[in-house]
Amino acid sequence: MDTLRIGFAGAGYAANFHVESFKKVYGVKVEFAGVTSRRAESRDAFAEKHGIKSYASVDELLEHIDVLDVVSSPAAHDDAVLKAAAAGKHVICEKPFSGYFGPEGCGDEYHGDTDPKEKMLDAVVGKLETMATAIRRSGVLFGYAENFVYAPAVQKEREIVEKTGARILRMLGEEAHNGSQSKLYGFWRYNGGGALMGKGCHPLSAVLYLKQIEGLARGGKPIRPKSVTCRCEKLTECAGFEDRGFIRTGYHDIEDNVWAHITFEDGTVADILSGEIVLGGISNYVEVIANNHRTRCNLSPTAMLDVYNPQGAQFKDIYTVEKISTKEGWTSLTPDENYTLGYIGELQDFAQCIATGRQPQADLQLALDTITTIYAAYLSDERKGTETAIPLV
Ligand SMILES: NC(=O)c1ccc[n+]([C@@H]2O[C@H](COP(=O)([O-])OP(=O)(O)OC[C@H]3O[C@@H](n4cnc5c(N)ncnc54)[C@H](O)[C@@H]3O)[C@@H](O)[C@H]2O)c1
Repeated sequence: MDTLRIGFAGAGYAANFHVESFKKVYGVKVEFAGVTSRRAESRDAFAEKHGIKSYASVDELLEHIDVLDVVSSPAAHDDAVLKAAAAGKHVICEKPFSGYFGPEGCGDEYHGDTDPKEKMLDAVVGKLETMATAIRRSGVLFGYAENFVYAPAVQKEREIVEKTGARILRMLGEEAHNGSQSKLYGFWRYNGGGALMGKGCHPLSAVLYLKQIEGLARGGKPIRPKSVTCRCEKLTECAGFEDRGFIRTGYHDIEDNVWAHITFEDGTVADILSGEIVLGGISNYVEVIANNHRTRCNLSPTAMLDVYNPQGAQFKDIYTVEKISTKEGWTSLTPDENYTLGYIGELQDFAQCIATGRQPQADLQLALDTITTIYAAYLSDERKGTETAIPLV
């Protein structure tokens, strides 16, 4: 295949940074062959902005492409992934791969926070098994677009782990900020959960990935997660919380803060923090404590460029950092977030994998382990933090 024809399912925030990042891919020719999304006006506007064709549905788009890039809302991923695999098209899928979005046909009145979590976990495991079988049987490439894996800082840590035969003992990872702007965020039925599902999934995948790498480097087999202990909170609903307008509030049925403690098959551990209550720009990092080294992978802030701006208005046309609420004072900004956050790296890897037939760094197994760990974590939280086994798909 000379040129990879890419189609986008979704025309929102992620679709835009995928387009910009695909433009930086080298060594493999890519062409933007089409877009589809739920609303005609948004897909047409996206198509016009990027000079590509707009299609009314995934089905219509599929015959014109080689790769479906699934950048739609989480609840729409399953259908798009299954259709692409059935049509023999390669799939790139944004996080979270899949999830539980309420019973069939439920409306906005659905409350995922009070829905029993054992039922959710069972339903998710069943669905993941079906999806994994469909993808594997189809023989298409599946790339899990988990940018944390491809952040240059995490890839450097991969090299250290691989080349030194390190044993990772403990990790700490976080993604947090002051709350999503999306109106649909805050509803379990669109996102499959809250801070853990939407943000915690990033550092979670990164720690799962690093243990996979360690296992492969040391014994030839990925080390997978075994159990999880988790607590979720709704801190913006606590008695006495005072809304000063800096942190988003008013979620429908999700947690805005989470801590999860994961134990791996080899007895080592990782802690994941995530929240919608953290000011100061997006806070993304993974810290690794190993038997032979210690690393702090800074994804944001990177401490690459510190700028002092005495007057916010001066920077009105200058992008600084994701989710920073002011441009005044000191800001630690990143010259190219698409690079430092791993967006370019992930698409580069997927394009090369399709061209050469090798498997990507962020693969189907990572996507599956991330989702089963998340729903086992929700079950642990329902049981007030009881250690809960992670079913492996
Ligand atoms: N890796 C990251 O850092 C990162 C950042 C933001 C979002 N994301 C992920 O990207 C995905 C999209 O998020 P977003 O922020 O772009 O959301 P968004 O609301 O900006 O856009 C979602 C798009 O999906 C479309 N859509 C919804 N249902 C659809 C359906 N059934 N068929 C086709 N299109 C459908 C909508 O019309 C819209 O164009 C989510 O999975 C999200 O978790 C990842």
